[in-house]
Amino acid sequence: MQDRTPRPEDLDPIERASVDELRALQLERLQWSLRHAYENVPQYRKMFDEIQAHPDDLHQLGDLAKFPFTDKAVLRANYPFDMFAVPRERISRLHASSGTTGRPTVVGYTKDDVRTWARLMARSIRASGGRPGDRVHVAYGYGLFTGGLGAHYGAEELGCTVIPVSGGMTERQVMLINDFKPDIIMVTPSYMLAIVDEMHRQGVDPRSTSLAVGIFGAEPWTQDLRTEIEQQLDIHALDIYGLSEVMGPGVATECVETKDGLHVWEDHFYPEIIDPVTGEVLPDGETGELVLTSLTKQAMPVVRYRTRDLTRLLPGTARPMRRIEKITGRTDDMIILRGVNLFPTQIEELILRTPELAPHFQCLLTRDGRLDAMTVKVERRHGIGAPAAEAAGRQLATLVKNTIGVSVAIDVIEPDGVERSMGKMRRIVDQRPKD
Ligand code: DLL
Repeated sequence: MQDRTPRPEDLDPIERASVDELRALQLERLQWSLRHAYENVPQYRKMFDEIQAHPDDLHQLGDLAKFPFTDKAVLRANYPFDMFAVPRERISRLHASSGTTGRPTVVGYTKDDVRTWARLMARSIRASGGRPGDRVHVAYGYGLFTGGLGAHYGAEELGCTVIPVSGGMTERQVMLINDFKPDIIMVTPSYMLAIVDEMHRQGVDPRSTSLAVGIFGAEPWTQDLRTEIEQQLDIHALDIYGLSEVMGPGVATECVETKDGLHVWEDHFYPEIIDPVTGEVLPDGETGELVLTSLTKQAMPVVRYRTRDLTRLLPGTARPMRRIEKITGRTDDMIILRGVNLFPTQIEELILRTPELAPHFQCLLTRDGRLDAMTVKVERRHGIGAPAAEAAGRQLATLVKNTIGVSVAIDVIEPDGVERSMGKMRRIVDQRPKD
């Protein structure tokens, strides 16, 4: 593997600052951000007023615990644009992520926000071992999803040559890797594995490609998978984290010289870990739900946004910023299938649009070769013949593909075939091997 450690003189000054300098900057920015949210977003004003928290009450970083949480439900209730803190004309970009009710969560960026995002992604790519002049193959999806465009702008900002491939067409991914000779690939880890399989199919030795670095995120992946990818491809495999509500990819990233968890870019985001049940702030080192507050976002500030992601905060190593441990899972039931987020309720909605099928279903998660796969086991309605129900199942598969954007198998079964529950229905049956 190539030595890809960045030179200290190439880092942003804040990446070399002391922890005290960082905390002082955070306090100043946090005071601005809370005031900005309070003064410009009626929803925040209402939530702050309800518990009598005023931006002037924040004298030190720990005072943030007095402020209310925000979550996806709050954003959804303000769909599409009511969480924006600037007039619509100042919004230069919209992105969105899928949601339970069919309504996506919409996020907006001013020009400055897009610039900040590009800079933080450039910083992330550099921390992962990227350098100006590198060729970057972007295989994250382009579109409302933040992965593709986030990676694209960051790579450009760093001074790289961007190859905007987007996801899919795996044969062509391999051809472009062979012909364009990228140094870096940015893609979900599960799709990377599919590309590796395709390389094998085409007789390409994955260790012989030009790739030196892979920057993988958007879904959980393990240390074991890192080892596997690094060995298979002879590359550095780095983890990158982010979520659209807070910005997109580039909220936290690993450093190539340590590969010991993801440094949160704390000059732009303030992380807390809470007990997901009580909401109490936990000390660093304890595992809980990650909560993020934006410090510089103009268009859509987020105050104590509950990510539902489980991790813990660790002290900085390669950078002064604290690290999060690799995300181990989520507090809720979001399924991340090949980088696409989906919820069982979205499946339910689509089943209910298919009159031949009953809303009794389960989502079975398996691993099909290298990729995660999902089978929706769903009952046909009583009185509907099997052939008609089978046809409806095929229709449902198309509907899922077109609305959620991911392929799933539909297994139409006899009426009453899905186990009933006395309490909550167990919608997700995870049969994937634990790696
Ligand atoms: O997945 C942004 C992104 C794109 C991150 C490309 C990294 C690379 P969303 O679609 O809003 O945004 O989904 C956010 O995905 O709350 C996590 O549950 C999960 N997630 C993202 N990165 C990681 C990661 C993008 N590195 C949700 N490890 C988050 C584990 C991740 N889970």
